[in-house]
Amino acid sequence: MTVHFIGAGPGAPDLITLRGRDLIAASPVCLYAGSLVPAALLDHCPPGARIINSAPMTLDGIIATLRDAHEAGQDVARLHSGDLSVWSAMGEQLRRLKALDIPYSITPGVPSFAAAAAALGTELTLPELGQSLVLTRTPGRASGMPPRESLSAFAATGATLAIHLSIHNLAQVVADLTPHYGAGCPAAVVWRASWPDQRIARATLATIGEAAANGPERTAIILVGPVLGDENFAESSLYAPGYDRRFRPSSAESIFVDRT
Ligand SMILES: C[S@@+](CC[C@H](N)C(=O)[O-])C[C@H]1O[C@@H](n2cnc3c(N)ncnc32)[C@H](O)[C@@H]1O
Repeated sequence: MTVHFIGAGPGAPDLITLRGRDLIAASPVCLYAGSLVPAALLDHCPPGARIINSAPMTLDGIIATLRDAHEAGQDVARLHSGDLSVWSAMGEQLRRLKALDIPYSITPGVPSFAAAAAALGTELTLPELGQSLVLTRTPGRASGMPPRESLSAFAATGATLAIHLSIHNLAQVVADLTPHYGAGCPAAVVWRASWPDQRIARATLATIGEAAANGPERTAIILVGPVLGDENFAESSLYAPGYDRRFRPSSAESIFVDRT
């Protein structure tokens, strides 16, 4: 018996990996984080599967359910939204499972920041404009922020920011970032990326508050950085005709020409 942690993707039910889908189909128990996991994914559960929404449960209740399945010899598909490596609460479940000696596997999923970038039609790293992406959040009721991880500290680098769990805090985000990026820096909000009711607001730091004013107060990513606005970026060397590389030696003298 194994508990299969599966990244369920950002919302569109076909944005799950084939491995994730097949594990759901092979597991007689499915425990899903109901607030953001699309119900259509549950259609992959086998007939007669026990399907449980973990949203109203406590950690103790979740672990008791996993332990019961373990004792019954039943595999569990444990679904969390997006990818499991960020804000999934998987870590605390893994720690308990290890202590109980219950086997588990982890199958990654499409994270919501990637779905938001796709919705915007944007690459989040562009030559010379931005080569780093910070996935972060602002403090919430359930989790504070380590003191050195303030928005201002990340903003001082000028990197592209993908700010999760913070749409209710947009005014403070703008206030913290404007001194570093400038009021004219491009910003965007993507709500429910890849869901049928996806929404997008594009603006600058000066105007994003107004542009996002009528949007929902949940399930949105705030993206900030020069890469969001400027079509005037350099091309990468990768596909430049004169760039010497292993897969496309630029001349007979290239260090990548096999002379053996
Ligand atoms: C508990 S975290 C889950 C993050 C998830 N593990 C991931 O890989 O993206 C929930 C937050 O992720 C973001 N989020 C999740 N799904 C989203 C979507 N489809 N569109 C925009 N933001 C989303 C929002 O910031 C939301 O408040």
